[in-house]
Amino acid sequence: MSGLEPSVPVAVIGAGTMGAGIAQLAAQAGHQVLLFDAAEGAAAKGRERTAKGLARLVERGKMEQEQADAIVGRIAIAGTLADLAPAGLVVEAIVENLDIKRSVFGELEAVVADDAILATNTSSISITSIARDLKRPERFAGMHFFNPAPVMKLVEIVSGVATDPAVASTLFDTGKAWGKVAVHAKSTPGFIVNRVARPFYAEALRLYEEQVADPATLDALLSEGAGFRMGPFTLMDLIGHDVNYAVTQSVFEAYYNDPRYRPSIAQLELVNAGRLGRKSGRGFYDYAEGAEKPSPATETVDSNAEALAGLPLNGEADIDGVLVALTDGRTARDRAKEAGKPVVLLDLVAEEGAARIGYATSPDVPAAFEARLVAGLAAKGLAATRLPDWPGLVCMRTVAMLANEGFEAMMQGVAEADAIDDAMRYGLNYPRGPIGWAKSIGLPHVFRVISAIHDLTGDPRYRPSLALRFAAEG
Ligand code: NAI
Repeated sequence: MSGLEPSVPVAVIGAGTMGAGIAQLAAQAGHQVLLFDAAEGAAAKGRERTAKGLARLVERGKMEQEQADAIVGRIAIAGTLADLAPAGLVVEAIVENLDIKRSVFGELEAVVADDAILATNTSSISITSIARDLKRPERFAGMHFFNPAPVMKLVEIVSGVATDPAVASTLFDTGKAWGKVAVHAKSTPGFIVNRVARPFYAEALRLYEEQVADPATLDALLSEGAGFRMGPFTLMDLIGHDVNYAVTQSVFEAYYNDPRYRPSIAQLELVNAGRLGRKSGRGFYDYAEGAEKPSPATETVDSNAEALAGLPLNGEADIDGVLVALTDGRTARDRAKEAGKPVVLLDLVAEEGAARIGYATSPDVPAAFEARLVAGLAAKGLAATRLPDWPGLVCMRTVAMLANEGFEAMMQGVAEADAIDDAMRYGLNYPRGPIGWAKSIGLPHVFRVISAIHDLTGDPRYRPSLALRFAAEG
């Protein structure tokens, strides 16, 4: 199979945030684009935004003026839906409403040729459901881009119950021809990205609710320590708590209140307070002019302390009678009892470029040893954050839960392992795909982490995926 030839005209319905970007992508790939929007003047405005975006690229020397002109020149404004008749592919990016989407596609089916492919950019509505009343639902699929569409590398090609695999395959190749990383996904709530990402927000919110650390500290651990581009609180503030909470709520309800996706009361309270994040001036952080950004909790390095040598990051060692080990989900107290000696637990850090690490101790770790630990970590370029003795600490708990969700989605046939990893890397800029990350930590270890958190909390949210269990057993 190959993608659509550039000679095939593409129609885009809805010229808002996403539609204008999708029109640009198709035009950039050489297609003639018909852009339609129901609101008077909206399509022209959408094209204008695209033109401005391209002009900025020209200014920065990233694109030639002629190229920008040619792209914009290939986007024509359609006055009515009937004008979309020549299109061989229609991508819809209108309001997120099932009835309206069904009705638009119903009308469209009578307009376009029988072999035209119909696609929706919906992020949360079932593909199967939008296609229900179509005469030819087999030519319908999801083509889910990420915001901003011209920049974000991922497109999820989502198949509903009736989607013809050949149609999904054409869309997949077309997505690639448009410069994207394409992944196949089955129509299930949240598809890949909006489902597998839930623990990134959820575990951070739970850790905050459990008073393990404040947002600035949790953000710093996940960004400076684990290598995420942005900490979860900064990211939620950017997305907007109303939007982020609504996505969590919709995935939770769509999975029949599975505790895996349970929303957070702390986040709901922010929504209740109107503290929606950057856009309202305040969320977890204050964006008022002159507001001070809180600093993460960091241990002071005692210059008189002799730095511990041989600290095992992502492993374990006995140092002067103290077991220093990567967290396996159990508490330092429990491990100290088992080991018969004091225990320091280290959080997961990225294999390269980490600048911060969290740790916890059993109560019998001598203060002098802890000072040497902090100095030893500093010698490795790591700022140290002392954490309560909490199951799985911060980064390991988050990455293990992301991986657990990835394995669960894979088991349910939502997507293949590589597609899940690509989706998370290119849809959300994660430093690594969660399944590959878990493999490099060691699947038995990740399985132990989740199982231990499950045992300690008794919360079914932490039940390990069977797929993770079986993969860990080898
Ligand atoms: P938007 O509100 O920016 O744009 C929607 C456009 O559709 C508006 O210009 C509106 O006039 C037009 N429209 C509404 N009803 C129409 C109809 N019946 N016929 C023709 N045009 C109509 O919305 P946005 O953010 O671009 O979202 C569009 C779709 O993309 C939604 O399904 C959304 O879930 C999805 N999506 C949005 C993302 C985002 O970050 N904004 C990311 C990925 C998907």
